[in-house]
Amino acid sequence: MSELFTTTRMRRLRRVSILRDMLAQVTLAPAHFVAPLFVRSGQAIRRPILSMPGQFQLSPDMALEELSDMAARGIKAYLLFGVVDAEDKDATGSHAHDPDNAVCTTLRLARDAGINMLAMTDLCYCEYTSHGHCGPLTQTPEKMARRKSSRFNTSPVRRATAASADHPTVDNDATIAQLGMQAVLHAKAGADMVAPSGMMDHAVAAIRAALDSAGHQETSILSYAVKYASGFYGPFREAAESPPQFGDRRGYQMDFRRDSREAVREALLDVREGADMVMVKPGMAYLDILSAVSQAVDVPCAVYQVSGEYAMFKAAAHAGWIDEKQCVLEMMHAFRRAGAAFIITYYASEIVEWLRQ
Ligand code: PBG
Repeated sequence: MSELFTTTRMRRLRRVSILRDMLAQVTLAPAHFVAPLFVRSGQAIRRPILSMPGQFQLSPDMALEELSDMAARGIKAYLLFGVVDAEDKDATGSHAHDPDNAVCTTLRLARDAGINMLAMTDLCYCEYTSHGHCGPLTQTPEKMARRKSSRFNTSPVRRATAASADHPTVDNDATIAQLGMQAVLHAKAGADMVAPSGMMDHAVAAIRAALDSAGHQETSILSYAVKYASGFYGPFREAAESPPQFGDRRGYQMDFRRDSREAVREALLDVREGADMVMVKPGMAYLDILSAVSQAVDVPCAVYQVSGEYAMFKAAAHAGWIDEKQCVLEMMHAFRRAGAAFIITYYASEIVEWLRQ
């Protein structure tokens, strides 16, 4: 047995809390947290989201109340999601371009009230389209129905074509053209930062160009650069009323069976296109990806603790199986240790409260 083995005592530095605090390298501060908020048109609406205890769909007036309250409690940033009434949805998601929709209205209310928080918006179309996909489709549902009904009396070649027509997908280039419009609308209404979440190729470049040519050079882009097709988005789709009406999102969101090299490539491409920051999503199951991406890019890298992660913590805490505060704060340290500059989480309010105590 070596000399070293007998003299080394790892526990010496863990002995007292002053020493432990002195040596802590990973820290949490209120400024590290962004609170997502779901807004829908109407008045005095505060509808609980059942699978996300403590989260609500809010009408713009109620969202303003919530934001004033958050600002007073020291929360520094919010991320808006629009929830859209079924009758306002269509094949292209045109309600996203209505300057009086819930997101734009909330942004204006917050700006006019002088809410001192960073305003971020999610840029996507899944909440706005009747089919629930993240942009207009390459095939309209009507075209699909026609193809389907004639499928059985065609030649093998025609059948192969028809089979691919059964799998329409989001029209990438039509979607990014629209995203530019949506971004400008949000910037005009007061967004400090837009966050494209649809995983469309070249979305960042299109949004940057649209913002700049409309005079919004100061509006920044936080790209959901690395977003996996994940089961952990389940509760969100209830919250945002945005589940895909057919198929899934695996044709555009990432495949979790690929390793971190694809993630790094996605992030680097977005940085080259002009992303000011990138994000990895979901969080807990993707710490390896977060670590690789944050080290590979020379811009800040964020992480999104998504709805399913929140729901799991809430459920286990509700059952009395875990200490909620201890486990959530441990998770947040893990995100920061893996390289997250900041964290988007439904726990933002509670965390800021816990940090103050
Ligand atoms: C929109 C979007 C989603 C989430 C954020 N933006 C849903 C999805 O991609 O299906 C998920 C957020 C969460 O689960 O908390 N594209």
